[in-house]
Amino acid sequence: MSDFEMTRTLDEHAAESALRADVLHGLTRTPKVLPPKWFYDARGSELFEEITRLPEYYPTRAEREILLERAQEIASASGARTLVELGSGSSEKTRHLIEAMPALDTYIPVDVSESALAGAAGKLLEEHPGLRVHALLADFTRAMRLPESPGPRLVVFLGGTIGNLLPPERAQFLASVREMLSPGDTLLIGTDLVKDEAVLVAAYDDAQGVTAEFNKNVLAVIDRELGADFHTADFTHVAVWNREREWIEMRLRARSDAVVKIRALDLVVPFAAGEEILTEVSAKFRQEGVRRELAAAGLELTQWWTDAAGRFALSLSVAGREAG
Ligand code: AVJ
Repeated sequence: MSDFEMTRTLDEHAAESALRADVLHGLTRTPKVLPPKWFYDARGSELFEEITRLPEYYPTRAEREILLERAQEIASASGARTLVELGSGSSEKTRHLIEAMPALDTYIPVDVSESALAGAAGKLLEEHPGLRVHALLADFTRAMRLPESPGPRLVVFLGGTIGNLLPPERAQFLASVREMLSPGDTLLIGTDLVKDEAVLVAAYDDAQGVTAEFNKNVLAVIDRELGADFHTADFTHVAVWNREREWIEMRLRARSDAVVKIRALDLVVPFAAGEEILTEVSAKFRQEGVRRELAAAGLELTQWWTDAAGRFALSLSVAGREAG
């Protein structure tokens, strides 16, 4: 039976102290803010999967449409023998790509969830017993060293997750991805696109309230991990389109004055009625902006594909001879 390797660059202890630092910093400043990565415990990941099936949430379906249509072109344009997937999750979407890459030697899924990595790696190996799979348990927003593998390399970052980073974080992220690449290696990124405000807001404020539950789940994570006493019922879900920054903001708004205790931080957090926590930004892009941000990191946009309705884009870029 074929097997996969796993390199761990994270431990539970590191995750807990990162959560403590983010909560302490985010809930003692004005306005209050929490990073979106803490949505994704087992329950949050399940809720996100449910979001991807909602009628209002088009990005997952639009991206899948492009991948199915373009897998062959992506495979031949990259000529990759190594595929690196950042934030691989269940590796569901990547399957199409892998099937279009007969010359592929090594698949390197990178994720913060060990269970997601193990599940995805095991399933892929059943379907492609000849493939080398080297899972990397790592936080892709930090610089990392990839395991040895043959070039050229194709790095993919799908789902529009780059939109959850703020512009300076995006610049840093793209620069660190560029660091992992050699000249001629390629990067495939999924980005949701600017569109009608009503369509965008509906995608983040669905009629069934699944996104509201997903948003509030971050409070349940803090209650469990840090011994806090948030009551999710005391907060309402808010999704707004920020026209200037061209991003969706998800917030949690306190229904009334409240005081929340966070035992592990020995902290008391006061909320005024109507006060909000910014829990996520989800940036929407235009081709020129994507081209500019890639160029700033030393990456040249070579292909831009959208779904038929023009809602979502996949962009392929190539690493230049020298870093940006
Ligand atoms: C993680 C980028 C796919 O920003 O659209 C879905 C997360 N947040 N609904 C996004 C999310 C609210 C999502 N991605």
